[in-house]
Amino acid sequence: MSSDKICNAPHPTIKESIGFIGGGNMAKAICSGIINKGMAQYSQIYVSSPHIENLGWWIQNGATASIENVKILEKAQIIFLSVKPHILPLAVASMLKTLPANFTEPRLFVSILAGVTLDQLSKTLRPVGDNVRLIRVMPNTPVMVGEGCAALCAGNGATAHDVKTITSIFSVSGICKEVPESMINSIGALSGSGPAFIYLVIEALADAGVKQGIPRAMAIEMAAQTTLGAAKMVLSTDKHTAVLRDEVCSPGGTTICGVHELESGGVRAAMFNAVEAAAKKSALLGQQQQPK
Ligand SMILES: NC(=O)c1ccc[n+]([C@@H]2O[C@H](COP(=O)([O-])OP(=O)(O)OC[C@H]3O[C@@H](n4cnc5c(N)ncnc54)[C@H](OP(=O)(O)O)[C@@H]3O)[C@@H](O)[C@H]2O)c1
Repeated sequence: MSSDKICNAPHPTIKESIGFIGGGNMAKAICSGIINKGMAQYSQIYVSSPHIENLGWWIQNGATASIENVKILEKAQIIFLSVKPHILPLAVASMLKTLPANFTEPRLFVSILAGVTLDQLSKTLRPVGDNVRLIRVMPNTPVMVGEGCAALCAGNGATAHDVKTITSIFSVSGICKEVPESMINSIGALSGSGPAFIYLVIEALADAGVKQGIPRAMAIEMAAQTTLGAAKMVLSTDKHTAVLRDEVCSPGGTTICGVHELESGGVRAAMFNAVEAAAKKSALLGQQQQPK
């Protein structure tokens, strides 16, 4: 396995209370990773969203749930911002409305919002006080099955301990790299959106198998397992992908005929365009978040 993978290292215990503003898919996935690896207990977890009926998973597991975002600010030392990007100003405004005037507690905010920059986060959260530390993370949904790919960058006030804590949270469910912020939108396009691109490839490979007469369920299972196997080959060997491909392509054989068709169909160019389009959209989402 890649030397960057630190999933097998002992998982540090998180002593701080942990909050989630927004309790949807990504928040649940991140929380599950933390709990399943024994880094924290549900008694340390706080979550808020406007609809308490949507927080059943959290409540059943023993987290403290609320419809008031300010409760998370009051109770949690590490706060994940896990709402949709366009909701952020609303979520913060509702939090500030009932924030006690004398609130000075130090808080680490961890944003997973696509496109929203550290500068924008800093401006949006300024009314919370001077004790706000910031980290921006770009995770992806395979964090739900322990195979996530995340990148983070530290913002205002974030300490080495903060970076280490958040890196370990995302590393227990995959890999996590610290990168400059200028790379985050591109990484969001590659690994944040990437699972959707790969699902499409798996579906296409399976469809092609079905056309050849393979039953649908078997074709999907085989296409997915082939993708998993190929990914493991890339991660567990030091071989370049071109070398691995060459090893499958016998001269004058069957696979090279298929590779020729993929090249003729513009698979590479389509992937370039897909990642570029996603990165542009991410930058646009950020611009739409410019604090007034
Ligand atoms: N999904 C991905 O692949 C992915 C990858 C990387 C980053 N992200 C980022 O992760 C973030 C969350 O995505 P998601 O897929 O987890 O979304 P989601 O499942 O729709 O969850 C959003 C959550 O925000 C809550 N919410 C809505 N308005 C709120 C408010 N005013 N205050 C507090 N909470 C509020 C929703 O509550 P209700 O259900 O009650 O409305 C819901 O619990 C997004 O910013 C996205 O950019 C997602």
